[in-house]
Amino acid sequence: MAIVAVLLVSMAFIIMMSPLALSRNSHRPDEVRLMFESWMVEHGKSYDIKEKETRFQIFQSNVQFIDDENHPENSHSYTLGLNRFTNLTNEEFQKIYLSPKHSEVLPAGNASIRYPASVDWRSEGAVTSVKNQEKCGSCWAFMAVGAVEGINKIVTDNLVSLSAQELIDCDNENNGCKGGQIWKAFNFIKNNGGIDTDDDYPYKAEKKECDVDKGIYQEKCKSNLKYVDHSALVVGYGEDNGMKYWILKNTWGTDWGENGYMRIKRGSRRKYGMCGILRFSPVWPIKKEATSLNTDNENSLQIKMMNSGGESSAT
Ligand SMILES: *[C@@H]1O[C@H](CO)[C@@H](O)[C@H](O)[C@H]1NC(C)=O
Ligand SMILES: *[C@@H]1O[C@H](CO)[C@@H](O)[C@H](O)[C@H]1NC(C)=O
Repeated sequence: MAIVAVLLVSMAFIIMMSPLALSRNSHRPDEVRLMFESWMVEHGKSYDIKEKETRFQIFQSNVQFIDDENHPENSHSYTLGLNRFTNLTNEEFQKIYLSPKHSEVLPAGNASIRYPASVDWRSEGAVTSVKNQEKCGSCWAFMAVGAVEGINKIVTDNLVSLSAQELIDCDNENNGCKGGQIWKAFNFIKNNGGIDTDDDYPYKAEKKECDVDKGIYQEKCKSNLKYVDHSALVVGYGEDNGMKYWILKNTWGTDWGENGYMRIKRGSRRKYGMCGILRFSPVWPIKKEATSLNTDNENSLQIKMMNSGGESSAT
């Protein structure tokens, strides 16, 4: 299971299929008012008069962006719609949900291997349900546990949801809710001899004391290194009407994208792929033996034999 750092900027947060994604040109101002009122009801949000006007302006400019993008002349392969982030500016969204920019470029992977035409680990039962990272820059932790969940299922046939919170609290090489690197998270799990289950060490969306007792988007995306600020787990790939895509499991809840997932263009001519998806060499965990659950704490999953794959494991 390959993992990549993925860039999602420039309004990526409003990507989702929605009945409100209309095919005609754009909404009239009075329609946008009504949309904003029903958006507030749907998302249980109320504002005082002044803030409401500010939020309306932002909402309006997001709706304008959506309408422009969805214009039939663009013949895009995707449709944008409203979601729970439509009240935020791009800058606000980046600040809350994306990580500080990555600084490290890892060496390229092995191109001489022949791969099957398509893969979807979800249909193999190797992908847990979509999580919601909430207001915590923890995509790295979810991505790391997502990969370990996958390899664990492949080797042991058990699909167990693992604790991103343990990484946030206990992996001091990473920065909790302020971002982190996947290969460091793998090293943590390896050195720790495994990682706790999600049930036993549940998600809190903020950094807490380490509890050791517990055991096909293709536009508007920059692939320049300095813009890469998000990571997501690749759970498969495929092709639809000649359009090749990667399947990403995101951590912005199930109402985002395609039930929490997103397909992003594969085989882009850009040097680093669509949205910089190929900017970092993929990292993945390896597990060679089906180790049993820890006898001291049966909620803890032992991954003793795990090494991180790829060049990044050398560090
Ligand atoms: C934006 O809306 C969400 C609900 O979707 C709410 O939780 C959040 O507080 C709002 N943010 C602002 C700045 O209005
Ligand atoms: C690339 O993969 C091939 C086939 O599995 C293998 O023989 C080769 O050693 C690999 N090269 C590197 C640099 O890992």
